Amino acid sequence: MTRFSVMTLFPEMIDSAAGVSILSRASDRGLISIESVNIRDYTANKHGRVDDYTYGGGAGMLMQAQPIYDCYRAIVGEGAAPRVIYVTPQGETFTQQMAVDLAKEDHLIFLCGHYEGVDERVLQTIVTDQISIGDYVLTGGELPALVMIDAIARNIPGVLNNDTSTDYESFSDGLLEYPQYSRPEEWMGMKVPEILISGDHAKVDAWRHQESLKRTKVRRPDLYEAYIKLHPDEDTH
Ligand code: ADE
Repeated sequence: MTRFSVMTLFPEMIDSAAGVSILSRASDRGLISIESVNIRDYTANKHGRVDDYTYGGGAGMLMQAQPIYDCYRAIVGEGAAPRVIYVTPQGETFTQQMAVDLAKEDHLIFLCGHYEGVDERVLQTIVTDQISIGDYVLTGGELPALVMIDAIARNIPGVLNNDTSTDYESFSDGLLEYPQYSRPEEWMGMKVPEILISGDHAKVDAWRHQESLKRTKVRRPDLYEAYIKLHPDEDTH
């Protein structure tokens, strides 16, 4: 059982995504648990405030240290200190390899920022990892936290019905996935490639690998170059 705890000001965002599809099924089956914890429930401010002005001036409000720290203490209790991921565009960029590694943890805590950010002192005190999902800025950390939870969860054994499907998909061998087709054999005048109907599994595998190489070379030359360094005999230049 992998436990995901999300410290947030908008728990309903987390709960709605956790309540559908594969994440919901994984929770029902006891493989994961996703709990949203409302930071506002831990503020000592009698008006329920969790933010304040920034020292030194500047636009916007900052999330204060106290509510976040008390929220964190309530999640960890007396137990072992889990990794705490602060979701921020200033972090290291999230990758499939990070998703695979984080899937081995028992408990992960995500801290979702809002407004102009979070008081640096609480970050120094509780955060072990700062991770971004890419070079663009969102309005808050909930969507990035959900992106990471989703990518991590599907690497936990049993979460996907088909345990081999993560072996064959984009990125697992450093290449993009080949094109795929379902019924009917002809649609809008476009036919499924002959070889896929041939029943010759070796030929199908070879064709798919070639298509993966072609597609990666065109769409992601960076991945293609990295792959060819490892497999120089496969270069199609
Ligand atoms: N918060 C706002 N933008 C973000 C991003 N790109 N990644 C992670 N957290 C964020």
